[in-house]
Amino acid sequence: MGSPGVALGDIPSVDMMTELLRRLKCSSKPDKRLILVGPPGSGKGTQSPIIKDEFCLCHLATGDMLRAAVAAKTPLGIKAKEAMNKGELVSDDLVVGIIDEAIKKPSCQKGFILDGFPRTVVQAQKLDEMLEKQGAKIDKVLDFAIDDSILEERITGRWIHPSSGRSYHTKFAPPKVTGLDDVTGEPLIQRKDDTAEVLKSRLGAFHRQTEPVINYYAKKGVLAQLHAEKPPKEVTAEVLKALS
Ligand code: AP5
Repeated sequence: MGSPGVALGDIPSVDMMTELLRRLKCSSKPDKRLILVGPPGSGKGTQSPIIKDEFCLCHLATGDMLRAAVAAKTPLGIKAKEAMNKGELVSDDLVVGIIDEAIKKPSCQKGFILDGFPRTVVQAQKLDEMLEKQGAKIDKVLDFAIDDSILEERITGRWIHPSSGRSYHTKFAPPKVTGLDDVTGEPLIQRKDDTAEVLKSRLGAFHRQTEPVINYYAKKGVLAQLHAEKPPKEVTAEVLKALS
């Protein structure tokens, strides 16, 4: 709430009260460090805002961070663009650097949701090293298990509101007005990599490079498997049960 340089007196009372109530609610929540892992379209981005609000965590989605860097044409974005458009993973060093910086932010004080990270065993090992330095560890890894055959329809029907990250689906979660964000009324867009063709290579990368990450956390005893093919509300119920 409020940005640097905004006087307290200029913040509307209702915003201030909402923020105070949020902080009060959050103060009683236990810290949680979570990872969401699953193939493209399995529902990680759909469930993240719900988990974030319920447990007062920060949401760190490496895909969103990289797309912002590509749009801003930063040196990181320039390096990441080609791999992302082809549905391949960007290098471990690039994403590890972004996460190392992001988890130290004040908004991650109560813990975090890592959405789309780690995606390789090397990334998982580096994350463990970062957390060890803070005397922390991962509490739970939610595995969005789903059959590949369901994902093409989910991916090709997805529409995004770029600035908020809100995601819609023409069939499963349509916006109130076609093509427009429910909250701001701004236009929705489709991601460059959300085509049937690029999905094939994203799924290839998932099975080859990310599935071993699931085994890595299973061995540590922190894995919870979800039935991600179920309707969104039923998946939410499974998530909340796994985190209770
Ligand atoms: P990223 O942005 O992380 O994409 P992804 O993992 O492929 O995941 P998606 O965002 O496509 O899927 P989602 O699970 O969030 O699905 P959603 O909830 O939107 O990564 C993109 C790229 O960045 C990578 O390919 C790579 O190049 C790079 N990258 C990122 N992280 C990296 C890393 N750590 N290392 C290296 N490279 C990295 O759901 C999809 C649709 O289905 C939506 O329309 C939604 O409304 C609908 N839906 C959701 N749940 C349900 C349900 N239960 N029933 C019916 N419909 C549903």
